[in-house]
Amino acid sequence: MLAIIGGSGLTQLSNMAVIRREVARTPYGEPSGALMYGTMCNEPVVFLARHGYGHTIPPHLVNYRANLWALKQAKANAIISVASVGSIRSDFPPGTLVVPHQIIDYTWGRKSTYFEGGEGLVKHIDFTHPYDEALRQRLIAAAHAADDSAHDGAVYAATQGPRLETKAEIDRLERDGADVVGMTGMPEASLARELEIPYAAINVVANYAAGRVSSERGIHFGDIEKVLQGSMLRVRHLLEHLCRV
Ligand code: HPA
Repeated sequence: MLAIIGGSGLTQLSNMAVIRREVARTPYGEPSGALMYGTMCNEPVVFLARHGYGHTIPPHLVNYRANLWALKQAKANAIISVASVGSIRSDFPPGTLVVPHQIIDYTWGRKSTYFEGGEGLVKHIDFTHPYDEALRQRLIAAAHAADDSAHDGAVYAATQGPRLETKAEIDRLERDGADVVGMTGMPEASLARELEIPYAAINVVANYAAGRVSSERGIHFGDIEKVLQGSMLRVRHLLEHLCRV
């Protein structure tokens, strides 16, 4: 079963026929919201809104362990993360869809592993390539099938949030080699790897990152929301084409 984690701007999939909802319980507490089971182009999907259905959970307080565990319990064998990002690159204007291939993690203080030692196991996962390549390529092919395009490859910087970054912080991320910046990519990706579930992300550029191009004078949330509304329609359309590629 395919799982989709929706981020800002995507708290439901209007093109998914919901069959049932389930409030999941996990050893790590409660996920962000109920799991929505349904079908998309006749294939089973399970959907979870990362920030809750009323968008009430900020990035640093998302219970990533419970979310991923619940999807594992739901027998998810692939996870697609939809998340909005700020763009560090001038050639990724707002509205660009990006399928990242690498991650740099700047988050801190998040519960980021199932392997905490003590009574349990200590295990070190391989994370050289944080995203599943086959799933990445399916996302890119689905974009083409939907007459759209998604850029193949980007380095995603995961910041702590919930505040946006300073200009100097974005300059540093750029020097580090990051292309886009978001607040929820980690530890979601590494927890999926710990659970051995193939995971890939589709990032929607909502704005230029702090101090870049038109964001020189600051970032305006009204603008972000407008971009996200249009772009998430395209993401839904892309997801509908996943079963055809
Ligand atoms: N920074 C971090 N996360 C984001 C941004 C940003 O500029 N835009 C959307 N998510």
